[in-house]
Amino acid sequence: MKTFKFALTLPALLILVGCGASRDYTPPADATGENIFSSACTECHKPLSANVAMNLSEKIANKEALIKKFQSGSMRMPAFKNIQGEAADRLADYILKNSQVK
Ligand code: HEC
Repeated sequence: MKTFKFALTLPALLILVGCGASRDYTPPADATGENIFSSACTECHKPLSANVAMNLSEKIANKEALIKKFQSGSMRMPAFKNIQGEAADRLADYILKNSQVK
């Protein structure tokens, strides 16, 4: 009987921990990088001006690092696992074109 209860509790715990810091947002197939940024990111990253979406530190101001950042998140930022492939490309391109590097 004990084993049975444990078998039910463990998956529930894993689900809670695993989803704590991620968002289910999935970009529509035709979304531009700007569309995705304003739907998924501006809640926390308010654009600095009409042409400046973000202030980027030097180490993250490249496509690979950016995509890794929004797909994996961090302690304080949720992971966006459903921004993949071309959508991830378009979002990263948009941010790189419209950001200041500190
Ligand atoms: C719930 C709030 C929240 C959302 C939503 C969010 N972020 Fe963040 N983001 C943060 C916080 C807090 C930090 C600073 C801590 C850190 O670097 O992890 C951050 C940091 C970053 C950085 C690093 C900046 C630097 O120069 O080091 C990038 C890039 C970034 N976010 C991109 C995005 C993108 C792209 C999206 C949308 C897909 C997004 N964020 C959505 C909270 C958020």
